[in-house]
Amino acid sequence: MRSRNTVRFAGMALTGEKLSEGPADTEAAGAALAGELEPGDVVLVAGDLGAGKTTFVRGAARALGVEGPVTSPTFAIGHLYRGRVEIAHVDLYRLPSLAGEEPGLLDDYLTPERIAFVEWPAEEVQALASVSARVRIEHLGEDRRSVTIER
Ligand SMILES: Nc1ncnc2c1ncn2[C@@H]1O[C@H](COP(=O)(O)OP(=O)(O)OP(=O)(O)O)[C@@H](O)[C@H]1O
Ligand SMILES: [Mg+2]
Repeated sequence: MRSRNTVRFAGMALTGEKLSEGPADTEAAGAALAGELEPGDVVLVAGDLGAGKTTFVRGAARALGVEGPVTSPTFAIGHLYRGRVEIAHVDLYRLPSLAGEEPGLLDDYLTPERIAFVEWPAEEVQALASVSARVRIEHLGEDRRSVTIER
C-alpha cells in the first residue's frame, strides 16, 4: 500500500530542503534516500535532540527491507540490521569527538558491505570519504520539521 506520504514526495527532487508535517513524512524522506544508496555508503544524520533523526533512519531501513524495531542505540554506539542489505545505525550522541576513543570503534559498523546511518556524526566521521549523503533535520514547531538532504 502506498501511503499518502510516499505519494507526497513522489517525483520531487531527492536533495534540498523539504517540509515534513509529521513522522510519516520524515520516514518517507528516509525511504526516498534509501533508494539511492549502495553498500559502503555512510549517511550523516544531524539535528537537535528529538528532531527526528531516528525516525528518518527508520524510514530508510524499512525501505531497505528491515522489519524489526529501529530505535536509537542506547547502550551500544550502534545497531546492525539485516534488510536486503546489511545496515548499521550508529548514534554518537555521547561521543562528540572520537579523539581518545579506541581507534577501531566504528570498524564493525562502517564497512564496505553495509549502508551506515550515523546520528550525531562526530567531526572525524564527517571527514570520511565514504560519506555519500548529509541529512539535517530542524524543528519548526509542533510536528513540523525541515528535512534537508545533500549528496
Ligand atoms: N515531522 C516529524 N518528523 C520526525 N519526527 C517527528 C515529526 N513530528 C513529530 N515527530 C516526533 O518527534 C520525535 C522524534 O524522535 P526521534 O527519536 O526520531 O528523534 P531523534 O532526532 O533521533 O532524537 P535523539 O536526538 O534523541 O536521537 C518522535 O516522537 C516523532 O514521532
Ligand atoms: Mg535518535
